[in-house]
Amino acid sequence: MTKNRKHFVSVEDFSNEELLYLLRRARKFKNGTAGWTMPEKQIFAANLFFENSTRTHNSFHVAERKMGLDVIEFNVQESAVSKGETLYDTILTLDALGVEVCVIRSGVDSYYNELIDSESIHCAIVNGGDGSGQHPSQCLLDLMTIQEEFGDFSNLQIAIVGDIAHSRVARSNAQMLSKLGARVFFSGPEKWYNPDFDEYGTWKPIDELVGTVDVMMLLRVQHERMNTEENDNFSKEDYHEQYGLTLARAEKMKKNAIIMHPAPVNRDVELADALVEAPKSRIVKQMANGVYARMAILESVLS
Ligand code: CP
Repeated sequence: MTKNRKHFVSVEDFSNEELLYLLRRARKFKNGTAGWTMPEKQIFAANLFFENSTRTHNSFHVAERKMGLDVIEFNVQESAVSKGETLYDTILTLDALGVEVCVIRSGVDSYYNELIDSESIHCAIVNGGDGSGQHPSQCLLDLMTIQEEFGDFSNLQIAIVGDIAHSRVARSNAQMLSKLGARVFFSGPEKWYNPDFDEYGTWKPIDELVGTVDVMMLLRVQHERMNTEENDNFSKEDYHEQYGLTLARAEKMKKNAIIMHPAPVNRDVELADALVEAPKSRIVKQMANGVYARMAILESVLS
């Protein structure tokens, strides 16, 4: 089993054993038994977020600081990117300055390929989300939260509901959960479903899922990936009624079933406002687990 990888860009690269190892490390970081020794030499980590982020960006920052790394917060607006410098040349530069790990979020699908294929770039690349591609660190923290709740993934039934086609969270989670033996279902507007996902699960109307699944994972409606006409025709109330986790639907959930959402949440759209911090919700726990999942990822690429 490979414990360490040079890069962390897509869950597709990982075997079940590797992911389960990272989850064990994340749990150890959480309970204080990871045995991480603070680096004696300076290790620079740079965070480059070309798309906005609160959770991923700041939890990587917290994780890096907890691990004794020197953090460079790369300001896209004030950088030479504003003069037209490419991502490749930006990373080539940071690599030359001695940065050992670059955490990158970009709107471009698979932006990381040219970086990890380059023989001139030596630093580790950690994907903080690429377009509609992958969100592997979110996947790890989601798996950690599900594992804490249920122990095992096999025999679990998990519904991923919302804008499946545009969601990197849906893709990473569906791929990994199905590989780990969970039964994955999808729901939401059919126009936002992509048959590519049939490989990982089954689409069903939300009312056929809500009373049977162990996890209701809601996704954010991504207005930034919709065109003007779609945004103009979008009704929050209609979406909530047809596809959202309403209070009435939540009443039908199984006794031990949980609610998850990667956040940010559009309250009263994907799920009722009152459910965000309800006893069944694990949304705040997901955010807290993000720090430990990201510590495990950083350890893996730095080791
Ligand atoms: N869940 C998630 O990726 O949130 P941010 O966009 O705030 O990082």
